[in-house]
Amino acid sequence: MAKTLLITGASSGIGAATARAAAAAGWSVALLARSKDKLDALKGEIGEQALSLPCDVTDRDELKQAIDTAADHFGGLDAVFANAGTGVSSPGVENGDPQEWHAMIHLNVLAVLTTAHASLPHLRKTKGHFVVTGSKAGRDHLKGSVYGATKWFVQGLAGNLAEEMREWGGRCTVITPGMVDTPFFDEPKPDKIQPEDVANGVLFAISQPDTAAVREIHIMPND
Ligand SMILES: NC(=O)c1ccc[n+]([C@@H]2O[C@H](COP(=O)([O-])OP(=O)(O)OC[C@H]3O[C@@H](n4cnc5c(N)ncnc54)[C@H](OP(=O)(O)O)[C@@H]3O)[C@@H](O)[C@H]2O)c1
Repeated sequence: MAKTLLITGASSGIGAATARAAAAAGWSVALLARSKDKLDALKGEIGEQALSLPCDVTDRDELKQAIDTAADHFGGLDAVFANAGTGVSSPGVENGDPQEWHAMIHLNVLAVLTTAHASLPHLRKTKGHFVVTGSKAGRDHLKGSVYGATKWFVQGLAGNLAEEMREWGGRCTVITPGMVDTPFFDEPKPDKIQPEDVANGVLFAISQPDTAAVREIHIMPND
């Protein structure tokens, strides 16, 4: 039976590219994001292997329901990619917008944590894999970056979760790209990392033999 990968932020950029790559490699994919139209279009492109589950991952009940529905539909979850995330339009701390921080921290920090909380009972059954999108901005210090600080949380959580999951044979990987050419930015970035490059990294991590736990994949643009 095909293995199943659940992806948050599957409607565009890195998440959509990972859904396409995983499906091409024979995985079933559960697609989570708010944009029903985009998820349905992606499901139409991939076919029966895909399940579209529109939801807001900052809503704990909606998120848990979507994760449980995916596990029921496919008969379990082998891997979960917590990838939904956002930045802010007002940079810096002194000049930042606390309201924007609230929404970003809810998505980049709390929703990653609740995605893990709701999916671990399923992953425990399969000795499964949790992958999360960090960033170069979560490994380096960038002037005034509150976004970067949310990714430092992700970096820390991923290592701690890897230690928790290894007790039952589970694995956790943080993937930390530099700039990726996605709708995260208003302008195209053709010379930067392509979303398919990040998808390749995710597939590499979740396709390793049981003896290898890939803890981090760091990808930089080659321009
Ligand atoms: N692009 C880069 O340079 C870069 C570099 C390093 C790390 N990252 C990280 O990569 C991840 C993916 O970003 P991307 O570059 O692929 O950007 P993107 O194309 O803007 O994708 C963001 C995804 O998150 C989803 N999302 C946002 N809010 C959501 C919510 N409340 N509930 C459910 N889904 C939500 C969006 O879908 P809906 O709007 O349909 O909900 C979309 O599918 C993020 O964590 C980002 O921080 C990006």
